[in-house]
Amino acid sequence: MKNNLSNIKKAIKYLDKNKCVGIPTETVYGLAANAYSSIATAKIFKLKKRPKINPLIVHYYNLKLLKRDCEINDFFLKLYKKYSPGPISYILKLKKNSLISKNVTNNKNTLAVRFPGHPLTRNLLKKLNYPLAAPSANISTKISPVSKKDVKDEFGKKLSLILDGGQSQIGVESTIVNLINKPQVLRLGGIPKEQIKKYLNLNVEYKKKSKLKVPGQEKTHYSPYIKLRLNIKHPEKHEAFMLLKKRKKLSSNYFYLSKNNNLREAAKNLYKTLRLIKKKKFRSIAVEKIPNKGFGEVINDRLKRASYFK
Ligand code: TXA
Ligand code: MG
Repeated sequence: MKNNLSNIKKAIKYLDKNKCVGIPTETVYGLAANAYSSIATAKIFKLKKRPKINPLIVHYYNLKLLKRDCEINDFFLKLYKKYSPGPISYILKLKKNSLISKNVTNNKNTLAVRFPGHPLTRNLLKKLNYPLAAPSANISTKISPVSKKDVKDEFGKKLSLILDGGQSQIGVESTIVNLINKPQVLRLGGIPKEQIKKYLNLNVEYKKKSKLKVPGQEKTHYSPYIKLRLNIKHPEKHEAFMLLKKRKKLSSNYFYLSKNNNLREAAKNLYKTLRLIKKKKFRSIAVEKIPNKGFGEVINDRLKRASYFK
């Protein structure tokens, strides 16, 4: 705890100086900077090699600062009460006099906002008088990081401070809900869309081909930059095999996402396992068929995008 406090102090110092800091969240690690500063947010795009047109999510401690920056509505308040802090992001209308840097929104009048639940990052946000813009802390289109070590592997010496909050407990990014008009899920993630649908009693259907610039819709994304094949029953000899169900046969090529066929656990282990397979220098990954429900749907969404890499 003491260690955490001194690290938080250090992080505040860095952020106040417009530097980027790696931060833990329950979904994935973020590459954070002062969302009100154009100098700080420009550094995020540069480090991540992220196209300027791809807007960032801004992380708040609570509603106090948010109300200065965004228009809030009833759907938002309802979801906020139930799911925040937690693995969900909301698209809201930006206020004209908001302090958010234009870099964050790509000059648009909407903002993605999130209230992360990780205690270390909440502690940090509480002590700041600005919110933090933080995309996932990976080079654009690659696998998102779920530990301090993963972030270090992405940026090396280019990023001098990463807070250590252990392994991310959800392990996949937040669900993004567009609340500008009727609620609509733009990205599948940490809160399964069926839950939101049931809670709001609304069809919040996730549309793969939305007209909006939709998150993570680049063709190749979440990619280990290795060939990846889906719905495989029998892998090739040389392939890494990612699977859910225990097999009788043991093999050093087998990588279990869950020990007991649990989809939530599988999502938590997904990015970690992809990184491990890459580290072991496999040239190809085969994945067992994953049931397309709840966290399984999120896993399939990420793997589908990863499989575009040829
Ligand atoms: O779990 C998460 O959401 C993590 C952690 C660090 O909070 N963050 C994250 O950020 O996944 P990022 O930048 O990797 O993905 C956010 C996505 C982007 O693909 C972007 O296109 C979309 O959110 N986005 C941001 N602002 C938007 C807006 N105003 N309208 C629609 N999509 C938006
Ligand atoms: Mg990302």
